[in-house]
This record gives sequence, structure tokens and C-alpha cells, in this order.
Amino acid sequence: MFQLNENYLKLPGSYLFSTIAKKAAAYRAEYPDRPLISLGIGDVTQPLALVIIEALHEAVDEMAKAETFHGYAPDLGYEFLRRAIAENDYAARGCSIAADEIFVSDGAKGDSANIQEIFSSDSRIAVCDPVYPVYVDSNVMAGRTGEYDAATGTWSKVIYMPCTAENGFAPALPDVTPDLIYLCFPNNPTGSAITKDQLQEWVRYASSVGAVIIYDAAYEAYISEENVPHSIYECEGARECAIELRSFSKNAGFTGTRLGFTVVPKDLKCNGVMLHSLWARRHGTKYNGAPYIIQKAGCAVYTPEGKAQIAEQVARYMENAKMIREALKESGYTVYGGVNAPYIWMKTPDGLTSWEFFDRLLNEANVIGTPGSGFGPSGEGYFRLTAFGNRENTKEALERIRRM
Ligand code: MLT
Repeated sequence: MFQLNENYLKLPGSYLFSTIAKKAAAYRAEYPDRPLISLGIGDVTQPLALVIIEALHEAVDEMAKAETFHGYAPDLGYEFLRRAIAENDYAARGCSIAADEIFVSDGAKGDSANIQEIFSSDSRIAVCDPVYPVYVDSNVMAGRTGEYDAATGTWSKVIYMPCTAENGFAPALPDVTPDLIYLCFPNNPTGSAITKDQLQEWVRYASSVGAVIIYDAAYEAYISEENVPHSIYECEGARECAIELRSFSKNAGFTGTRLGFTVVPKDLKCNGVMLHSLWARRHGTKYNGAPYIIQKAGCAVYTPEGKAQIAEQVARYMENAKMIREALKESGYTVYGGVNAPYIWMKTPDGLTSWEFFDRLLNEANVIGTPGSGFGPSGEGYFRLTAFGNRENTKEALERIRRM
């Protein structure tokens, strides 16, 4: 008789954002006359930029003619897009990344969940705490995390690196040596960033202990400070010890259209085996990347018009972030983040747990946010609001919070 992957049974019943969506749906059903405003999941609200829409239309037309029709996409993604990425995201920042080290995908979420497949099942993982839940959940599914302790909200084999107000939300190097280190900067959920010197320290550490850094740079478009790196490959030695995940979701609004990429440099090797060739097998066998139409649209992001149009959208979200920070401060809350990232991370008031504050915000302001403890034990006592809402809703949410 077939058996289940028991690791799946260890997972909490539902994914953090699914739990929140279910709570919101239940509230709507009970109080249909109370319109909810969501500043919860980090989903964008502005429509795709005009230049992207035009590229989508053109690509659809190409698919209608035999001479310009496209079937399966190449394993790594179309060269026109990989070249544009290599030139604009890497060469322009002084990073040496070749087009054939870039694997185009349908977004960073799937890649961040799947990348662990190329590592041994007994690899020790280290994560920031709080952390984007996908990194831990995917390792739970792979059986790498040991047992869950409900009292502390921790897994026995995971190395947690606390990120709190006390350490400026920048993790210290772990005491126990990891094999895989997940870092995300600018950070989801704390909205914090680290400097290039701090990141360089991580690269040095990973090289010295023989660990790989899985660096999630999904929010790099929101960096406003000079000394914050946009890519881990700005650091010396990173080609030998780091994989980078990128997304078109947060910078260009592809949350619904899906596009992202992962960089696996050919210098990253284990006992002489290139990790690049292992990830290439995954793409060749398990995965076909994003469709031609979407990759064409992604290419438009790198045109001069595309750069200008998406910069305007990012700026608009960052005006929201500033507005949220200032309004919350005026109302007496302690807030962090929102300077290099579209997330505001606040202390919960009156000693409330983060789920208690979720309920208060839902019931008294009809606003949905994300409880910090959903991202890990050190997130308890914190709460995340996103700047991705539309301007009117964000203003209205802040006014409701002020009146609470
Ligand atoms: C978040 O809200 O943390 C993100 O939107 C989730 C994601 O990108 O998958």
C-alpha cells in the first residue's frame, strides 16, 4: 500500500498566508458590511507598466503566426532575457555573472522552495529568525529539520539566527556550523537591510566553513541607501559560495504573471561537481521555466522606458512605506523597516502577542496585517504591514488605525 511522505505531516495545517486569507474570508462572511483593507501578504496592487503590457500583446501576436510561434522554452530560459539580466542586474553593478549562469523560472517562491533538492538530506540549514516561511517549510518537507517543538515554535535541527531590534535585525554568525545559510536582504519580513561590509563578512564565513549561502534578493529594487548591496555577487568570493534568487514580482508587478530567476555560478562546486550542472538537470527534467510571452514581457523591464516606468511604481510603494512609518510613529507605535524595503515591522502595543494584535486590527480597524510570530519565534511581539497597497486604501487603513 502506498505511504505518505511523513515529513509533510509534520507541517502546520496551512501556510501562513493561507491561514490569514481564511481568517479574512471568515470575517467577511460574518460581517459583509465591514470592508477589509489588506496590508497583509506582500502582493502588488499597481497594474503592470505600459511597456510590459505592450510587450505581452506583441508576444501574443507572435504566438499566432507559424513563423514566430514558440513552443517549449529553453531549459535555462530565453537567451534574450538572460543577456538582459546579466547586463543590467550584474555587469552594470560590477558583478561578473554570465548569461548562462542564470536560470529563468516562474518566480523566486518556487526556486527558494526547490533549491534545497540539490543538497544532501542531512545538510544543516541556518535561517534568520523571523524568516520567509518557504525556506523552512521546504526543508521540513525534505526531512531535514528534525522535530517540531510547539512550545518554542522551533525545529530541532534548524539553526535559528535571531534578528531583533537589539541586533538591528542583522543576524550574528551562528555558533553551530551550518551547511546551507538562507539570507534575504532587504529582508522579508523585518524590512531591514545590511551593508556590503556585513554581507562580505557572511561570504567570508561561508567560504571558511564550506557552507553555501542561498541569498534571496527579491526586494533589491527597494534599496535606497548607498552602502546596501543589490546582489551578493558584489562581494568578493561570492561566486564560489553563493546562489542568488531574484524575482520580477516585487519590482515589476509579476506576482500574477510569474517570472523570476536563480543564479548558480559555475565556480560554486562541491568535491569538484558544479552545482550549476545539478540545477541544470532539474530545469531540464522537472521544469520548463516561464512561457515565452512572459519572458518577452520580462525583457521589457530592462528597456529605458521599462526602467523608468517600474522605478515610478517602486517609488510610489516607497511613498506608502514612508506614510505608514510616519503615521504609526505619530500614533505612538515603535516601527522599523520601510527604508530599503516595502515592509514595515512594528512592535505590538500593550504587550499583545502578534496574533492578538492581528485580531485587534481586524476587529477594530478592519485592517489585515501579518503577525510576526508567523515568521518564527523571534517574530513574536512584532507585526508586519506591507507598503504594496494602493494609496487610497493605505491612507484609509492608517486613519482607521489612528482611530483605534
Ligand atoms: C510575503 O508577503 O511575504 C510575500 O508576498 C510572499 C511571497 O512573495 O511569496
